Amino acid sequence: MKYNKVFKKVNEQLVDFENLGNVASYIPELSCVDNSKFGVHLTTIANKHFNFGDADEKFSIQSISKVVSLTLAYKIEGENLWKRVGVEPSGTPFNSLVQLEHDLGIPRNPLINAGALVICDILVSHLNNPKEDFIAFIRKISGIPTIDFCSRIADSEKSVGYKNAALINLMKSFGNIKNDIDVVLDFYFNLCSIEMTCKELSQTFLFLANYGVCPFSKEIILNRSKSKRINAIMQLCGFYDEAGDFSFKVGLPGKSGVGGGIVAIHPNKYCIAVWSPKLNEKGNSYKGIKFLELFTSETEVSIF
Ligand code: DON
Repeated sequence: MKYNKVFKKVNEQLVDFENLGNVASYIPELSCVDNSKFGVHLTTIANKHFNFGDADEKFSIQSISKVVSLTLAYKIEGENLWKRVGVEPSGTPFNSLVQLEHDLGIPRNPLINAGALVICDILVSHLNNPKEDFIAFIRKISGIPTIDFCSRIADSEKSVGYKNAALINLMKSFGNIKNDIDVVLDFYFNLCSIEMTCKELSQTFLFLANYGVCPFSKEIILNRSKSKRINAIMQLCGFYDEAGDFSFKVGLPGKSGVGGGIVAIHPNKYCIAVWSPKLNEKGNSYKGIKFLELFTSETEVSIF
């Protein structure tokens, strides 16, 4: 498939597209991002690369990192993981508190903030040096040794992290957080602060398009069954209360972040990453979703 041609065609279709939405401003540092940026990078499992626009510019991956933390926790804990977090779509915004009391502190899934905080708690329990070990893991699965946290963004989020503090305190009261709340929150804010380009993102998540095996190093990151389950969770939960809409329009498992990034996986084919900082009211990239919808429509290939 000549993906560069498809990118060109989709961009022609987007010429009159009105990029509504707003850059995330609830994290002060994210509001400084140039909202006109747009990048896309596709890496195939045969290591072919296709890109368009600002594909080599770093941005804050935010919630996209939840898939990597889930991967590492699932590797460590195995099926025991599901005693502390569910696998059901929440149908609620990413930072919602409403279900958590009713569900006795067990988050519906690992991709909403509550679930990601439980995953961080599990990693803090298991890793000797959580931040160093985590960044080493992401560098290993991507093959990119320069990927790093951004302390400026982590500190910025920490200064306004009231909802995440509320979520973790509520879960602690139910006994579903084992470690010190401030340690877990600090770890979580750092994971969200990681910066990557579209190219780096599409390389990092390629193992999920290749049944758990990193196509570059041939290393097994997850076994086939676990890789299938991560993709299934992304399909149903990756876009919070917009997961059905994303699935309906794009037809691929994916994950968004409030930095405006989206990764989507076509098993056995490719991983594509797009970046456009303006978000819709659900906190997902407005143009990013439109681009992916037109892309899978144009290629006439999706998982459905
Ligand atoms: O916890 C937060 O609010 C952010 N660090 C991450 C939220 C996010 O990316 C939601 N995704 N669209």
